[in-house]
Amino acid sequence: MARGRFILLEGCDRAGKSTQCAMLVAALKDKGHSVELCKFPDRTTTIGQMIHAYLTNAKELDDKAIHLLFSANRWEAMQSMKRKLEAGTHLVVDRYAYSGVAFSTAKGLDLTWCKNPDKGLVRPDLTFFLDLPTAEAEKRGGFGDERYEKRELQERVREVFLRLKGKEWVMVDARETVQNMHYKILKEAEEKIRVGEQDGRFAEEE
Ligand code: TMP
Ligand code: MG
Repeated sequence: MARGRFILLEGCDRAGKSTQCAMLVAALKDKGHSVELCKFPDRTTTIGQMIHAYLTNAKELDDKAIHLLFSANRWEAMQSMKRKLEAGTHLVVDRYAYSGVAFSTAKGLDLTWCKNPDKGLVRPDLTFFLDLPTAEAEKRGGFGDERYEKRELQERVREVFLRLKGKEWVMVDARETVQNMHYKILKEAEEKIRVGEQDGRFAEEE
């Protein structure tokens, strides 16, 4: 059996990642695929609760300490994610290591230092970057509720994301309608799944 595909959606806050992840999971399920949603940070774990306390300003943490907690929150999910991929389940993932590096680097930490703790995590097969100008994000409901939802930081985050952009990235204009974005994402994801059925590769981050 072919292993599942790891499909990642990345982007700045309020770009519509969670909506698109939910729509992609539903559409792939409808077409008969085995698929699950993962979200980072996963706020349900003990580490995730510390991250949540930090993001909602209930707790202060050193920049490096919170960076490592975000990474640990991915590592604690790794065994279960690998098992699912190996069993042929596709994973649609809402944020991952690119967010980890982009946000912490935008805060002023060293890029290489930020990348190190995520080395060895399972690598996405396909990454969508939902790109939204910060001025548009600010107009969307809820912007500003959490610690990082500030214009200047988000602009720097977007710049780092664009520096991290890899060959396998698919850029999605997040000013498009929800439906148009969905069609584009679904089409590319289905193509990746189709190709993946002929190739059992299981990549890890270098
Ligand atoms: P969320 O809004 O998708 O739940 O993400 C919460 C915030 O955490 C968001 O501003 C992005 C940030 N973040 C990091 O700083 N590092 C990470 O590793 C991840 C996954 C998210
Ligand atoms: Mg958020």
